[in-house]
Amino acid sequence: MKIGIVYGTKRNAATAEIVGWMSEYLRSLGHSVVCEKPADFDQLDCDLYILGTAVYAFSAKRTGIAAFLRKHAEQIGARPTGLFVVCGSDPLDAGGADRGLKAALKKLFLDPDKYMASVARLLPTPPIGTTFFKGYQEPGDREKIDFESQKKRAAEWCDSLLAAGSPVGA
Ligand SMILES: Cc1cc2nc3c(=O)[nH]c(=O)nc-3n(C[C@H](O)[C@H](O)[C@H](O)COP(=O)(O)O)c2cc1C
Repeated sequence: MKIGIVYGTKRNAATAEIVGWMSEYLRSLGHSVVCEKPADFDQLDCDLYILGTAVYAFSAKRTGIAAFLRKHAEQIGARPTGLFVVCGSDPLDAGGADRGLKAALKKLFLDPDKYMASVARLLPTPPIGTTFFKGYQEPGDREKIDFESQKKRAAEWCDSLLAAGSPVGA
């Protein structure tokens, strides 16, 4: 199967690493995988698209993924898609803030469902699977959130997309 991973990020950090895990895993299963940022992605003959975006400044749409989906709606809509969002994580938000403040900040800043919905609604057809990953703000935060523990989940999510996206009997 030819799989396109289109991922929006402004840094060479969490999102790029997660995409590296996915592509390594999918290639190990024998699939052909193309990974590019939205502005560079031009492989519009894929059997499955995995679309991902990082969240910055209260939005999941600052990484070029929205423009990509607008431009290629027809081709993307013709194939199954999986959508993932990389966003902030609890330990990084409010530090020692009290519970009320932490809850308020979480609602404002860390609302994964809102970020997911804002991108999902741009897809021409509903995604066959969605998931979140915890990102890290600073390189030093990577260990604090046990970032690496998400690697297995990334592979399992890819498996679920392959299962949901394959024609019956394939
Ligand atoms: C400048 C900046 C702004 C951010 N704003 C938000 C935010 O509003 N909400 C959120 O959930 N995460 C936010 N984050 C956390 C990022 O989603 C997280 O750092 C993620 O790892 C970013 O993807 P990247 O590592 O590929 O750059 C922000 C991170 C940075 C660096």
